[in-house]
Amino acid sequence: MGIQQERGALLDLITRAAEAGAAIIREGAGRLGTIDWQSKGPGDFVSEVDLRTEAAILALLRPALPGVTILAEESASSAGAEARRGLCVVIDPLDGTTNFLHGFPEYAVSIGVLEDGHPVAAVVLQVPRNERFTATIGAGALVDGRPCRVSTITDPPRALIASGFPAKDPHDLPLYQLQLARVISGVPDVRRAGAASLDLASVAAGRVEAYWETRLSPWDFAAGMLLVTEAGGIVSTVDGEPLDPTQPSSILAGNPVMHPWLRERLHDPLHSPTPVVPPPA
Ligand code: IPD
Ligand code: CA
Ligand code: CA
Repeated sequence: MGIQQERGALLDLITRAAEAGAAIIREGAGRLGTIDWQSKGPGDFVSEVDLRTEAAILALLRPALPGVTILAEESASSAGAEARRGLCVVIDPLDGTTNFLHGFPEYAVSIGVLEDGHPVAAVVLQVPRNERFTATIGAGALVDGRPCRVSTITDPPRALIASGFPAKDPHDLPLYQLQLARVISGVPDVRRAGAASLDLASVAAGRVEAYWETRLSPWDFAAGMLLVTEAGGIVSTVDGEPLDPTQPSSILAGNPVMHPWLRERLHDPLHSPTPVVPPPA
């Protein structure tokens, strides 16, 4: 089997696993009021559906990929050296748990495959719409089997930007408020849809021009980053450094013009908000 065929076979496998996971999520969505969920930390929830979805994905992948490193959110082993050697499968069984728990229809199963630390195959399955974003390295990105490209809009006053709030990391809030003020003063609007894998899929499908977030875990972006680059976009950290899908990181993604624009804007003190001076008493 050639290397492209091997990657194609991997994509078929992770797509089947994502579909098995999506079936469990759909069943849960039909009985939201009965679902047991717990808090893992500020703004961070896990439900029985997240756990059962991950178990179903692992039950399919482990026997098919013996000895392969697996980095899965709810049973997260170390995101260390072994994730950067050989094959590693990075799994977010339910990206957008808060949305799911409220019946807000923006959540996904996200599975990425790394080879020596670099994404080579990816699936992000938007569960409520049953919309499937896939990519293998060098073969382009697809939405429901049709090729997709990043947007051609390059004029900031016409651009729509996606972002994620640092709800799980309140200490990032002062920095984020500054970044948001700098960005929103230069574009018509910003969206916070609540699932990082789908924010990246939206960049890949040309639905938004760029996206940033201050802190994500590998399972939030390992699949989505390949969708973006295979659709002709750029991904990096917020500082413009290469993105490591085995480590927590900030993220910046966009089309080839809006990515550098957003990077500069996020750092540009000229666009900081003017402090509000209270009127003299
Ligand atoms: C979260 C979502 C959200 C992002 C958070 C992630 P989860 O993932 O992707 O959009 O802002 O940082 O942790 O917890 O729903 O899998
Ligand atoms: Ca996630
Ligand atoms: Ca999750």
